Amino acid sequence: MTSFKYDVCIIGTGHVGLPLGLSFIEVGLTAIGIDRDVYLRETINSGKMPFYEPGYDTLISSLKFQVYDNFEIIKKAKNIIITVGTPLNNHIETDLRQIQQVLESLGNQLTVGQLICLRSTVAPKTTRFVRRWIKHHTSLKVGKDIRLAFCPERIVEGNAYKELRTLPQIIGTEDKKSQKMAKLLFKVLTPDLLFTNYITAELVKLSNNITRYVHFALANQLALVADDLGANIYEILELANYKYPRNHLDKPGLTGGTCLRKDFGMINENVPYSDMFLSAWKIHEYMPTFLVKHLLKRTKIRGKVITILGYTFKADTDDMRDSLAPKLYRYIMRELPTEVRISDHYLSDPIKDEHNGKLRNWSIEKSIVNVDCIFVAVNHTGYREALYPLAKQNPNTWIVDIWNVSNINQIFYQASALRALS
Ligand SMILES: NC(=O)c1ccc[n+]([C@@H]2O[C@H](COP(=O)([O-])OP(=O)(O)OC[C@H]3O[C@@H](n4cnc5c(N)ncnc54)[C@H](O)[C@@H]3O)[C@@H](O)[C@H]2O)c1
Repeated sequence: MTSFKYDVCIIGTGHVGLPLGLSFIEVGLTAIGIDRDVYLRETINSGKMPFYEPGYDTLISSLKFQVYDNFEIIKKAKNIIITVGTPLNNHIETDLRQIQQVLESLGNQLTVGQLICLRSTVAPKTTRFVRRWIKHHTSLKVGKDIRLAFCPERIVEGNAYKELRTLPQIIGTEDKKSQKMAKLLFKVLTPDLLFTNYITAELVKLSNNITRYVHFALANQLALVADDLGANIYEILELANYKYPRNHLDKPGLTGGTCLRKDFGMINENVPYSDMFLSAWKIHEYMPTFLVKHLLKRTKIRGKVITILGYTFKADTDDMRDSLAPKLYRYIMRELPTEVRISDHYLSDPIKDEHNGKLRNWSIEKSIVNVDCIFVAVNHTGYREALYPLAKQNPNTWIVDIWNVSNINQIFYQASALRALS
């Protein structure tokens, strides 16, 4: 029997792979990583977190988790976990290139007795594709020589440390040996293991994300309807949710991020007709336009100084991927303001945005002085306290607060309304 030097090798040590590798180290396994990104490798190997994910600073500084660029080291690992990116390309199609490249690199290095665990979020039938690939390109047989499992990652960014030890793990396998090996691996993190086949495991992950995406779309749709009718969505939410046991409406907001935004598309790869997931997508994508259009019903943007608070895809993260704030910026620019200031204390200065170029990142305090309108694009901690002084300093400033960070229970209001709260 082959003996392996490492328990685990994580391929793709990004937002999902790195916390997972570190959590395995914490529970006593030996783990290494492989990543093609030089910055990521150098930062991790020098003992620092390359992005914001609380809870791991001490673990990473122990230097027990090292990341390599060479796939030869794979031979020394018993369990191989694939956590590379699976973005949606411009069509309704998952971009499988990162997984395909990993398979090409793995091909010659695979050894009898290993488990390949796919953990990236994938469209239904992708694990079956991996199994076909192994059959076609290697002499190894899944279920006999090597094992294959799909075990989705369901953590939310910013909460990985806690959730990796508390969320039940879904184990999708289609033979006994694979199930046994995946069970041994994940039971070190949690005793709560749920067993199923590939396709169900793939659909469980997508279902979790799509449910959230559709719920948020419902809240956004209701916000549109309410504002059109001169009503206030936050008042509606408060009354509708108060002691009513049968549903709980979410708050409106800008819903983006690499997970929620794309996962509906993964289901749609296999569906020829329009469905409610596509409608949810459309509502979310319309929200930046809604905010600009409905502010224009109240005041002008042309020739004015505008501030956007927050540029990341959600609160208290430094992850800008698939954020709707850059889209909001572009829609504001179409209205020809004199100046647009952006402030996001989770990002460095300048903000480098693939589409919008290099943007100065203002401090919160300076960004909101003497401005005509403020859009709160993200509900980062700290914005509420920053906005309150405006009640005295700039009472006429318009605030577009879809997240209700100020607690004023309105999306569109002037800073004078904050007086009662401050
Ligand atoms: N970010 C989240 O909160 C989250 C949560 C659950 C699931 N997921 C899913 O997990 C997967 C990974 O997401 P992520 O946010 O960690 O992405 P990421 O971009 O942060 O990390 C992916 C890493 O894979 C590396 N990589 C890509 N191709 C490679 C190759 N051929 N060889 C070596 N390294 C390679 C990249 O350099 C990158 O560091 C996606 O499928 C995503 O949908 C993400």
